[in-house]
Amino acid sequence: MKIYLETLGCQMNQLDSELLLGRFRARDWDIVDSAKDADAVLYNTCSVRDLAEQKVYSRLGRDSRRKLDRNAIGRVYVIAVFGCMAQRDPKELRRRCKGLDIICAPGQIEKLPELLEAAADAQLAAIQPLESDALAAPAPMPAIFTDPKRTEAPDTAAEARIDQLDLTRDPELRSSKSQAFVRVARGCNNFCSYCIVPYVRGPERSREPSHILDETRRLVGAGVSEVTLIGQTVNRYCHTAGDVTTSFAGLLETLHDLDGLRRLRFVTSHPSGFGRETLEAMRDLPKVCEYMHMPAQHGSDRLLAAMNRGYTRSDYDALVDLAREIVPGVTFASDFIVGFPGETEAEHQATIDLMRRVQFKNSFVFKYSPRPGTAAAKTLTDDISDEVKKRRNNELLDIQRETGLTHHRSYIGQQIEVLVTGKSRRSEKQDSPATGETMQLMGRTRGDHIVLFDGAQAMVDSYQTLTITDANDLALFATL
Ligand code: SAH
Ligand code: SF4
Ligand code: F3S
Repeated sequence: MKIYLETLGCQMNQLDSELLLGRFRARDWDIVDSAKDADAVLYNTCSVRDLAEQKVYSRLGRDSRRKLDRNAIGRVYVIAVFGCMAQRDPKELRRRCKGLDIICAPGQIEKLPELLEAAADAQLAAIQPLESDALAAPAPMPAIFTDPKRTEAPDTAAEARIDQLDLTRDPELRSSKSQAFVRVARGCNNFCSYCIVPYVRGPERSREPSHILDETRRLVGAGVSEVTLIGQTVNRYCHTAGDVTTSFAGLLETLHDLDGLRRLRFVTSHPSGFGRETLEAMRDLPKVCEYMHMPAQHGSDRLLAAMNRGYTRSDYDALVDLAREIVPGVTFASDFIVGFPGETEAEHQATIDLMRRVQFKNSFVFKYSPRPGTAAAKTLTDDISDEVKKRRNNELLDIQRETGLTHHRSYIGQQIEVLVTGKSRRSEKQDSPATGETMQLMGRTRGDHIVLFDGAQAMVDSYQTLTITDANDLALFATL
């Protein structure tokens, strides 16, 4: 069978998709690059903003039509939606997409290979009834598998099974030779008032440190040299078993000892979870990279409180100062939301002020999108017009371009080590020259800067020390 998988959303989804593809390959499924070439299409979905959901609905419309055409000529076409949308509102998915075969929440996805095979068999029996022994009873469609709601008892058996998906991953089946994500925690307890994640990904659960160590050791043994630890509030990792408590700094220390590991990163950090201990670990452990993706979300205290972020503007400023003092050369990236209910022009200016002060390496800017069921959607009116949201969005992007340029230019003349991650987008578009020939390559510094330089294909996945010759707001340019 041929399978097409499209992933939307954050690193959690990217990792889930990679782990699942490993399982599919192990069962001899072929992975194809386009839905039209597939016998089964899967969407790993995101609910964080309405736009991400609409994208999936438009794909599903096309796929439902394709399924009718395929079935008419006696061929199967299985459609599955998994990830955050499957947990947020499975009934809405079922209502809006008649052709859907499977809806599967994030905590149940290890079932997907079996579910897909069963759905394909059932579909075949229904469209080619003469070839099967008896008329099979039509399978109820779609098959829906959800995780318990936060108010319900946890499904410990499902939790144990999903943990195995990470722990038993095949380190040979991975998307990059040198880089890998490793999950340290699932879920989130923060309940930022705008955010759907705590509802769709459940309560925060830190993984057993020995499992994280085992998984990382196997990846490093298979050639991975840069590991990125992921969690919704990764720096709040904390695991207790009996009287042993492992903090995030403790976890970094444990992983740091692995021979063959060169870089250890982590995303995403929550500003109120950073103690001195973690910053000092970043300073004292040479493999831990000097990079903090630590979303500020807003620059105004009133909005930070309305967003339930748990820190003030001056807390954030003080943390940035402390990190710069303890971890020399540390870089920062942030997320911002514009157009949160009631945001005044002066409050918007406070965000601009914060951006100017911190000088982020890069920022992701989002227009507020009310998510059904969240505190903000229940209690506040989405009263900022789309036009104003757009303007504020563009203003923040302009500031980021300005500060990003100053930030990147400050590296000109320096020598920096990069991990070469692949061809640049420009080279991707050109016909790939034979090995040995020069092409534009892309790499990453420890501070997560993108570096573009001319080199040979054989350098991909190696570490190179480059001289920075030029910069723009998003990238550094360098020579060998
Ligand atoms: N766990 C991460 C963020 C996960 S969601 C953290 O707390 O930092 C990624 C980003 O999407 C958030 O940082 C926020 O900026 C944005 N976001 C979340 N909910 C949103 C919403 N309802 N509307 C617009 N942006 C949103
Ligand atoms: Fe969402 Fe806040 Fe949790 Fe991040 S910390 S996932 S923004 S609730
Ligand atoms: Fe989206 Fe789910 Fe991640 S809502 S941001 S894919 S946890």
